[in-house]
Parts: sequence; structure tokens; C-alpha cells
Amino acid sequence: MRSAAAALVLLVGFGLADTLWAAEPAPDHEAVARGAYLIRAAGCIACHTDKKGGGAPLTGGRALKTPFGTFYTPNLTPDPETGIGRWSDDDFIRALSEGVSPDGRHYYPAFPYTTYARMNRADMLDLKAYLFAQAPARRPNTPHDLMFPFSRRITNWPWKVLFFAPAPFEPDPAQSPEINRGAYLVNALAHCGECHTPRNLLGAVDNDDFLSGTTSGPEGEVVPNITPDAATGIGDWSTKDLVFLLRTGFLPNGNDVQGGMREAIDDGLKFLSQADLEAIAIYLKSIPPIDHQVRKKRTQSGQGGATAYD
Ligand code: HEC
Ligand code: HEC
Repeated sequence: MRSAAAALVLLVGFGLADTLWAAEPAPDHEAVARGAYLIRAAGCIACHTDKKGGGAPLTGGRALKTPFGTFYTPNLTPDPETGIGRWSDDDFIRALSEGVSPDGRHYYPAFPYTTYARMNRADMLDLKAYLFAQAPARRPNTPHDLMFPFSRRITNWPWKVLFFAPAPFEPDPAQSPEINRGAYLVNALAHCGECHTPRNLLGAVDNDDFLSGTTSGPEGEVVPNITPDAATGIGDWSTKDLVFLLRTGFLPNGNDVQGGMREAIDDGLKFLSQADLEAIAIYLKSIPPIDHQVRKKRTQSGQGGATAYD
């Protein structure tokens, strides 16, 4: 009897010790799968992959040209030296929700934490679970090439004081669950507004003109008005047209979209569920229309093209 009890104590002891020694938590497969979906919905891959240079997914190094200079995205794989392998959950959440690095430096808003700050905490942790389930890849970050004074990271601090008021997304109880889902996707994940909303001279999006288009979008592109204004926006699009575009890249006139929109679709939006694409479309049709002509109206023969109005 005594030896059996002793053996049991020993077994429990070993069991506990083994649990404690297993410092690496087993990956939570469901969290990884949810993160794989969210990383598409949030478009992280397009910016954090140097497709042109043949870089592996999420290893960074993609150049983003802006009026302030060229940004190069960092490596998001869990490599401990050159990626984010040493980051804690809290480090990751702080980066996305406050735009602050683990060593306390302020990120440039070229990283759209301005949008991601609205994401809920559970979704952020699922994104991290997905990133940490990828193979670590060694690729040292390329330094940004920015004009003075923007080359000084300290300038991000006053910028944030002026333009960044982080607040998690709050569903509107007066709206349907579908519209609220669409609002969350557009405003917290898919960052449509980071491209489709005009910016002021310091690069902050102008929320009064939300989604009304701009002639000076990322990479200098003309980005159309996607509010439901009949004359200058997408007022004459059906939700079916919108879902079809987000799934395939084809406009109602049969032409396909180019540039940043093409990438947003290919690296992310086309993988979303039918229900989520419909939610985005229904939400877009529900927001206030803004009359803002950014380019010539599309003609029967071809696309609106890059002819800017403004
Ligand atoms: C529009 C392009 C763009 C998109 C989309 C984007 N990022 Fe980034 N990200 C950047 C840039 C640029 C930086 C560098 C910012 C800086 O140096 O201040 C960055 C930095 C980061 C950092 C800090 C890394 C480090 O080493 O300090 C993390 C973490 C990050 N992004 C995660 C994400 C996640 C997760 C997503 C998707 C939810 C995402 N990013 C989407 C452009 C982007
Ligand atoms: C990286 C920048 C970027 C992001 C992010 C982005 N778009 Fe676009 N979008 C563009 C550009 C640029 C065009 C114009 C493409 C063209 O004309 O070839 C465009 C075109 C469109 C059009 C076609 C409008 C028209 O009148 O031709 C719709 C609709 C649209 N985007 C919706 C969205 C939605 C919804 C989201 C978020 C789920 C989104 N976009 C995210 C850059 C972006």
C-alpha cells in the first residue's frame, strides 16, 4: 500500500514537472485557423511581403512610397533575431492598439494601427497565434528612407497626440448584426479607409470625408469614392456588384481593377466568406453618401482610368 502511494506521488510529481518544463505552449489550432482568416481580412500579407523582390510571405521588405519618403515593412515571422519571435502577447497587442513597439518607440502611421486599434483583443491574439505558427525566416529589417523631420521617429509622438484617438469598435445597437459585422470588417480589419479616404498634409485620414476617395492615394493612385453617392460614388452599384468585385476584381462594366485594390483582393478579400463580403457591401450601402468627384465617370468603352478630377 505504502509503496503504491509513494509511486503515485512520484507519478504526479513527474507529471507536474513535465507540464512545467513544457514551457512552449502547444499551438492552439483553432486560434491559428481563425488567425489565418483574419490575416486575410486585415490585409497584413500585402504590405508585409516583398512580392516584387520575390520575398517569402510576411518576411517584410516591401517598399511603400509616400510623400514623406519610402517605408520598408518589417519581418513578421517568429524569427527571434530579425522577426517578432521574442514578442509577448502584450507586446503584440500594444503594437496594434497603441502603435508602440516593445521598446517604447512610436510607429509611423504607414502601419495602419490607426485602423487596427479598433480590433478586439481576441482577434489580435488569433493573429499572433497564426504568425507564431509560421516558419521563422531570417531577414533583417530594411531601414526606412524618409525626409527630415519625418526621418526622426520622435515626430510620431506629436502626430499621435493630434490625430490618434484609439478606441475599440463598438457595435451600434440600432443597426442589424450584419451591418455591424460589415462596419467591423471595413473599419477595424480591411482598412478600406486607409486608401479610400483623403488625408491632410500630415498624412492623417480626414474622417469627415470617410471613404469619399482621393486623387493622392497610396503609391500616388487615384482611389475612387465608395460612399453610396449616386453621381460620384457607388450609389448605382448593387450589393451583388460589390461582392463580385471584392471576390474577383471585376467591375460591373467588365473591366478589372488594378494597383492597390487588385492586391487587397488577391492577398486578402477574395478569401473571405460570402457572408462577410455581403456584410461589407451592405454596410457600404448604408453609410452617408458624400458628393466627391475624384475621377471621370466610367464610360461604356472603358474604365474611369487614372484621369483625376478633384
Ligand atoms: C499599409 C501597409 C501595412 C499593412 C496593411 C500592415 N502593416 Fe504592419 N507595418 C507596416 C509598416 C510600414 C510598419 C513599420 C512601422 C514603423 O517602422 O514605424 C509596420 C510594422 C508592423 C509591426 C511592428 C514590427 C516590428 O518589428 O516592430 C507589426 C507587429 C505589424 N506591422 C503587424 C501587422 C499586422 C498584424 C497587420 C495586419 C493586421 C499589418 N501589420 C498590416 C505596414 C503595414
Ligand atoms: C491598398 C489600397 C486599397 C485598399 C486597402 C482598398 N482599396 Fe478599394 N480601391 C483602391 C484603388 C486604387 C481602386 C481603384 C482601382 C482601379 O480603378 O483600377 C479601388 C477601387 C475600389 C472599388 C471600385 C470603385 C469604382 O467606382 O470603380 C470599390 C468598390 C472598392 N475599391 C472597395 C473597397 C473596399 C470595400 C475596401 C475594403 C474592404 C477597399 N476597397 C480597400 C485601393 C484600395
